[in-house]
Amino acid sequence: MSAPNKSYDPVEVEALKPEEIERLRDEALAAFEAAADLAALQEAKVAHTGDRSPLSLANREIGALPPQAKKEAGQRVGQARGAVNKALAERRAVLEAERDARVLTEEAVDVTLPFDRAPRGARHPLTTLSERLGDIFTAMGYAVAEGPEVEAEWLNFDALNMGPDHPARSTQDTFFLKDATGHSTDGVVLRTHTSGVQIRSMLAASEPPIYVICPGRVFRSDELDATHTPVFSQIELLAVDEGLTMADLKGTLDHMVVSLFGEGMKTRLRPNYFPFTEPSAEMDMVCFNCRGESVGNPDRPCRTCSSEGWIELGGCGMVNPRVLIACGIDPNRYSGFAFGFGIERLLMFRHNVEDMRDIVEGDVRFTLPFGMEI
Ligand code: DAH
Repeated sequence: MSAPNKSYDPVEVEALKPEEIERLRDEALAAFEAAADLAALQEAKVAHTGDRSPLSLANREIGALPPQAKKEAGQRVGQARGAVNKALAERRAVLEAERDARVLTEEAVDVTLPFDRAPRGARHPLTTLSERLGDIFTAMGYAVAEGPEVEAEWLNFDALNMGPDHPARSTQDTFFLKDATGHSTDGVVLRTHTSGVQIRSMLAASEPPIYVICPGRVFRSDELDATHTPVFSQIELLAVDEGLTMADLKGTLDHMVVSLFGEGMKTRLRPNYFPFTEPSAEMDMVCFNCRGESVGNPDRPCRTCSSEGWIELGGCGMVNPRVLIACGIDPNRYSGFAFGFGIERLLMFRHNVEDMRDIVEGDVRFTLPFGMEI
């Protein structure tokens, strides 16, 4: 049995020489320091601390040393490896901090950048107001009836008790149509009101009851200015049933203005003339702004109603029996009431719009503040 190799001198083992261990350590530290990013550091780590790195190989040599030499060599290599691991951890911390800082700036989201480059636009307040009116009446059981904008003269005038020689016919500044060859087309006009849809509804129904509202665009040969437009919107209502009276008309109008402007609103009727209604009336509603309190009260003038307390809304009346007869309805059994008004005017009052042109020109800067009422 051979004696322990007491004469084995660790200094003689090339890899464990103090200068060599120092050199390996310094090499590792220099490599970590030189690593510019975490990937390079990982490579340096494998090269200098991995299983096949010079320091690991030197460490393995220790096992072969005699016991009394192991300690010193172990200390030397252990210190070197400790310094290497410490340097590695420190360099990693530095590089990770650099990476985090870079990611924060490179991948930062600028929340102040405009995110929506295609502006969303807005529904036109005429549309929403007319739909709101539609809701009020459909909730009461009315149906919405629509008709063509190019209308037969008979439906636009004659059936409404405005025969060819009726003076009222010429007061509605009518657009008459020409055909493609430039010749006027007999009997066809751009509708001057939606009342023709009332006639269509009565002709289409086999028998009353009839409860319809007729919203739509109408045309009159007016110049576009602050208070006129050749194309505007109306909503008309027609009810035909047994036993309807002017009280039903008044109650319906009052309900409408309360629904639009709130409790306490009411309407009043003033005598007027329309060929298609008898009796006929002009309808006013209490000024929703001052509720009448500006009347005779110079300290509280109201711009909305010019301190008159009332706002003129439109026309109404009991359907003229001649109109019922033209539509094949027996006026001895049935009666009807109707009203109609312009939606632009209502919009102007309701939202203090001072110039009609703002409503028709379609500039989104006008429609946007009304929001997206649906
Ligand atoms: N059609 C009328 C106009 O455009 C408004 C109107 C008045 C409609 C009285 C009606 C009504 O239904 O009963 O001037």
